[in-house]
Amino acid sequence: MVELKRFGVSIEEDLLDKFDRLIKKHGYENRCEALRDLMREALVEEAWDGNAETVGTVTLVYDHHDPGLEGRLTDVQHDYHEVVVSGMHSHLNHRDCLEVVILRGRAKVIKELANKLISAKGVKHGQLVMSAAGKALG
Ligand code: NI
Repeated sequence: MVELKRFGVSIEEDLLDKFDRLIKKHGYENRCEALRDLMREALVEEAWDGNAETVGTVTLVYDHHDPGLEGRLTDVQHDYHEVVVSGMHSHLNHRDCLEVVILRGRAKVIKELANKLISAKGVKHGQLVMSAAGKALG
């Protein structure tokens, strides 16, 4: 069991009111969990800025009728095979595909690969979600 520490925070009333409204909107039941998530978010950001060993996912939506696109996306992933953990493909409709690729490696390499996939001509929407291996988040 992880030991919990308590600490006091002095904060302007107006800022705290805004924070409370925001976390309520996001479904948090209390400030503690919201603060923990903000701290973890900062740790993830630092890990990515520092080019740490980390994890992420890339989500891509593309038209599989686009000539050669599927092959190009696969070629890029093979070029970075050491960071591609796995991928999932879903046929959204007659035309469009959704692909989610799980990546693990140096932040810089993951970003490089994600940018190549997202910027490929024919990809309608793409996004990298930067995360962190569980241990890095306490
Ligand atoms: Ni498909």
